[in-house]
Amino acid sequence: MIELETNDNPKLEQIETYVNNHPHIQQYWRSANVIAKDRMKLNDHGEKHIEIVANRGLSLLRLLKEDLTPGIMEDYDHSYEDAEVVLATAALLHDTGHIIHRYKHSEYSLPIAADLIEELLGDMYDKQELVIFKSEILHAIQSHHKKANPLTLEASILRVADSLDIEKGRARHDKDLSNQSIHSISAMSIENVDIVRGDAKPVTISIEMSNSSGIFQMDQLMRKKIEGTGLEDHIHVRAEIDGEEKKIVDEYEL
Ligand SMILES: [Fe+2]
Ligand SMILES: [Fe+2]
Repeated sequence: MIELETNDNPKLEQIETYVNNHPHIQQYWRSANVIAKDRMKLNDHGEKHIEIVANRGLSLLRLLKEDLTPGIMEDYDHSYEDAEVVLATAALLHDTGHIIHRYKHSEYSLPIAADLIEELLGDMYDKQELVIFKSEILHAIQSHHKKANPLTLEASILRVADSLDIEKGRARHDKDLSNQSIHSISAMSIENVDIVRGDAKPVTISIEMSNSSGIFQMDQLMRKKIEGTGLEDHIHVRAEIDGEEKKIVDEYEL
């Protein structure tokens, strides 16, 4: 079950209800995680990741909409409500390609998502409108990884939001030392992520860390996701360690 922060957007409520009443959609997230988490020992790419990315994306969109215009409003004269539909649906479906393989998963997600978009949005829009939604949502999904730069606000936000599921819970797999890497150790040091209105830039992403290794998440992962989105001047990321630095590992061996 996922909980979307719908802010009374009736279309988001309809999507949330549909997803929660159709186990086959939830199965995509479970099967994605069998590949990503169970077989490849990566961090979580299941339902929790999807929920976090969708809600953090919506938070970013709600803060950025004063300064930037979503693609579906700019080029198709659709409503702001529909921009939230594009972003949330793209977030829900962006990692479904993992059911085939992690490698090239953003491409593998496209045909899967194309079918599911018809299912999720088919009652809300006519056939012609559905083509527009497919275009906007599939563009966002395709560009959530680094090589293809996003060309819409919704796509840019999805790519950034995908990098914000970094709290220690996301390691969400075993603590076996043999599987530990700078990815898992740095993730274990992230206590909290907050998205708030900023001063110099419209958005501040405020990160609370227990250990300096968390900087890896920002410097190596988040930085690459923000670069090329056009949001570099709109998002300020800051981290702090509150109190004493916490020890995360006792020893490490190769
Ligand atoms: Fe992905
Ligand atoms: Fe993802």
